[in-house]
Amino acid sequence: MSFKTTKEIIEDGDIVVLYLNPSNMHSLEVKEKIFNKKGELIDNMFHTTYGALRVVSLIGQKYGSKVKLSRGWAYVLQPTPELWTLTLPHRTQIIYSPDISLIIHLMELRPGSTVIETGTGSGSLSHSLIRAIRPSGHLYTFDFHEQRVSIASTEFKNHGLSDFVTLKERDVCLEGFGDELRDRIDAVFLDLPHPWLAIEHAIVALKQTGGKLCFFSPCIEQVQRTCAQLICKGFIELLTYECLQREMNVQYKSLPVLDLECLKYKQANEDIVQKDEKGKQEEKLLTVTHAHSLPGHTGFITIAVLPPSYARK
Ligand SMILES: C[S@@+](CC[C@H](N)C(=O)[O-])C[C@H]1O[C@@H](n2cnc3c(N)ncnc32)[C@H](O)[C@@H]1O
Repeated sequence: MSFKTTKEIIEDGDIVVLYLNPSNMHSLEVKEKIFNKKGELIDNMFHTTYGALRVVSLIGQKYGSKVKLSRGWAYVLQPTPELWTLTLPHRTQIIYSPDISLIIHLMELRPGSTVIETGTGSGSLSHSLIRAIRPSGHLYTFDFHEQRVSIASTEFKNHGLSDFVTLKERDVCLEGFGDELRDRIDAVFLDLPHPWLAIEHAIVALKQTGGKLCFFSPCIEQVQRTCAQLICKGFIELLTYECLQREMNVQYKSLPVLDLECLKYKQANEDIVQKDEKGKQEEKLLTVTHAHSLPGHTGFITIAVLPPSYARK
């Protein structure tokens, strides 16, 4: 239940994040015993690059504390949607936090919003959508893959999020989002190979007062085809973004000090200054430079507005 509320103490059944370093984190469920491959009930030991952790030893410890592994140590953290995105078991390609933050901003989600998402995939985006709209909003998420639906459903339940999400197994391009959602939705998000096939169904679900449709596509041809269909169906204000992170390196560097007084003196008395070491002095300065490489392309994010029904052409 550790996703639902901020907690101080780790309890049996919590999902926790074991943080070894920024690129080495794991999420795990706190339970004393697990079944091995032979079906025998054994002590739950979690193995990392710095050795093993007896998972039951976490119970009663404070979130944020440092725990001993057999060959090192780690911090044990309460999960957030961002940490979950970095540690979740992948069933599909997932959307990562920089893109997720832009998606939530563009769809203008807030507590109380009612949102459709499809496909659910590995539930990476779903966790952030739920946090944005709870406690009074609701997420309706759809996927046509039976096993993905079943695993995501178990995860939502184990994370204490079931009250805020309804998960359905359905091919939304063929069957739509269901009559029960007609005219009830503030925003629809599509992460599908054929987003243009879901547009008609999104229009049915979006409120008569208007709403937003956002879709994520790795390739520009999908964007072009979907945008053409959106315009044809009366959507306006289409904008496509690519969210690229540009990292900055902040570090101390030893740099030569440019002493202008010394330079003037040097020019006037060149032969005397030959032995003068002053001009070669270095100072440690805090510098900021751009990282040499950019994280690569993930996908294009398009947002479109459906105007109120009386204003649609
Ligand atoms: C790339 S994954 C979504 C990943 C998800 N956004 C995340 O962050 O974890 C795309 C999902 O869409 C589902 N899907 C594809 N076509 C669909 C359709 N017509 N109806 C419902 N789900 C569909 C697939 O089964 C797959 O799980």
